[in-house]
Amino acid sequence: MTAPTLLILPGDGIGPEVMAEVRKVISWFGNRRGLAINVEEDLVGGAAYDVHGVPLSDATMERAQNADAVLLGAVGGPKYDALDFSVKPERGLLRLRKEMDLFANLRPAQCFDALADFSSLKKEVVAGLDIVIVRELTSGIYFGEPRGIITEGNERVGINTQRYTEGEIARVARSAFELARRRSNRVCSMEKANVMESGVLWRQVVTEVHDAEYPDVELSHMYADAGAMQLCRWPKQFDVIVTDNLFGDLLSDAAAMLTGSLGMLPSASLGAPMANGRPKALYEPVHGSAPDIAGQGKANPIACVLSFAMALRYSFDAGDEATRLEQAIEKVLADGARTPDLLGPEGGTPITTVQMGDAIIAALDASL
Ligand code: IPM
Ligand code: MG
Repeated sequence: MTAPTLLILPGDGIGPEVMAEVRKVISWFGNRRGLAINVEEDLVGGAAYDVHGVPLSDATMERAQNADAVLLGAVGGPKYDALDFSVKPERGLLRLRKEMDLFANLRPAQCFDALADFSSLKKEVVAGLDIVIVRELTSGIYFGEPRGIITEGNERVGINTQRYTEGEIARVARSAFELARRRSNRVCSMEKANVMESGVLWRQVVTEVHDAEYPDVELSHMYADAGAMQLCRWPKQFDVIVTDNLFGDLLSDAAAMLTGSLGMLPSASLGAPMANGRPKALYEPVHGSAPDIAGQGKANPIACVLSFAMALRYSFDAGDEATRLEQAIEKVLADGARTPDLLGPEGGTPITTVQMGDAIIAALDASL
């Protein structure tokens, strides 16, 4: 059997630095666990724009379509702010999501015990937190037409369109219900059915899919604004949250912060099953390119390493090795290793990106 292919797209800002640490981890699993993965690397975002004049070349798109999984670092930076919208670094990421049809974005928000003190919320509110936001990723206001900036009379008008078909809602609802069955069996669906027709349809379709196919799962509904409030008030009431593209973008950043650091959270974007039965998949940290700290060894590589752990679990049939990697990270944190983002108000001495990577490798060695 030939080794599966992982296409690595480090991207911009801190992307290349954190990806260098992931590469060490991938090599470790190859050398010490016999887990052969054929790693390829290519450009995305501003890095691709600098070379090709576009944030994702057709050739890279094709490599992504043919890979068993894609692992992306981050895209964007101030250098590209003035670019036309159509070639902005973010468009590279959006093209990957859209053309690979990665409609279900899984964003876990898990609070590591060692970091419960660093959340901006009280420790008892976040300790042991383990929820997943399932964000619809290929439709809604991110892609709806018409869109643009037009001129009406003597002023400009910015237009975006929220649009969901029932098929788009049903398939992401199924992903959420399936995931809930493997967890605590509860789904909370969030929309704004009180003001948006797309929210009314969202609530109807989620309920229909539930009643017809997943009556064993506990389903509740919440307006997304109330959901944001409840996430801050008592996040442990949730298990799986399913929501649309834009609300999911906002709610997942809020949920991420509950856990103490955005630098800790991975994500998986999954599409329909491929010939090998596993879903098309793109893995990426929830954090962005953090241009303010890029190149200074301050970035936390854990979110990207945990994204690779999700790849091990969902794409490479290596759930046990994923757990080994997650436990190694828990150990590293319990032992007190802290990149700057993980230092609480009382401060302390931070370690560098590379040192964090080395600590993870040492913990993996210790796991054997
Ligand atoms: C995210 C990011 C992206 C989004 C940007 C970079 C296009 O914020 O993955 O959450 O808005 O989806
Ligand atoms: Mg976001």
